[in-house]
Amino acid sequence: MYYTIKSLLDSHSKNLISLNKKDVEVCLCHIINKPRTFIHLNPEYEITKSQYKQFQGFIKLLKNGQPLAYVIGNEEFYGYEYFINNDVLIPRSETEIIIPEILKYGDKIFEENNKLTIIDAGSGSGCIGLTIASERPNWNIILIEKSLKSIDLLKKNHDHYLHKNCTIIATDWLKGINQNIADIIVSNPPYIDFGSKYVDKNVYKFEPHHALFSDNKGLSDIKTLVSQARFTLNENGLLFLENGFDQSDKIMDILKENYYEDIDIILDYNGIKRFTISRSSYYG
Ligand SMILES: C[S@@+](CC[C@H](N)C(=O)[O-])C[C@H]1O[C@@H](n2cnc3c(N)ncnc32)[C@H](O)[C@@H]1O
Repeated sequence: MYYTIKSLLDSHSKNLISLNKKDVEVCLCHIINKPRTFIHLNPEYEITKSQYKQFQGFIKLLKNGQPLAYVIGNEEFYGYEYFINNDVLIPRSETEIIIPEILKYGDKIFEENNKLTIIDAGSGSGCIGLTIASERPNWNIILIEKSLKSIDLLKKNHDHYLHKNCTIIATDWLKGINQNIADIIVSNPPYIDFGSKYVDKNVYKFEPHHALFSDNKGLSDIKTLVSQARFTLNENGLLFLENGFDQSDKIMDILKENYYEDIDIILDYNGIKRFTISRSSYYG
């Protein structure tokens, strides 16, 4: 028996009640390789047997709590599509907020120097660094990542966009990186406390813990990065950091202790102090 889009969604409607309707539709669209408007405009479109089987598989995963991005294997970030699997964090919409800020500051530096090097520290899928590479093909982008499995996916995303301005380096934060080479370092590091009670159970179950958690109340990786970054940054280089919902004051202290100045705070969509932009006054 072959299903039409309408009969498939109708026959499963009871079954699908616990699921987000949009997630179900996105799965179907992904399988038939059509935009979402298509399924509303073409309810009589016939699904093949193998597409039906694939749909059943996707629904099972969604019912188990797998996030949609892992089920369909991709996620949109700042208008760009990225391959996603369980080895990398799913790009978050709040992280997009930092992209126009980086472009704005970077444009000024590029205008003055006619060149610019940015390091995306802890690249994961590459959503930050590859997006900047797409937006500014003349800038030099270095993507660093410790997890080799994450790097496999990062390379897949890099190959998809065929950037000529990117270098991928496997390293433990900035240990393997030369001094005074970057104008900007950006990072969305792991910053959740291991014991945090605020982590969604499906985030905990399905997203990689090396991308989420950090020692010392979630601050350990941030501390390492802040102290290493001042050596990697050029004179007056800028550090863009994402942080947890309650960490902004502590991050300010860490930055000041490490000779960063002109600290600016950027809020996320919920008004949470989500990012700091600071200038390294240390040079040596
Ligand atoms: C919160 S995720 C961010 C991923 C991506 N940049 C994003 O915004 O979606 C943090 C990333 O840092 C990487 N990471 C953790 N410890 C690291 C280390 N010591 N050196 C380099 N990368 C590290 C993780 O593997 C993970 O990919």
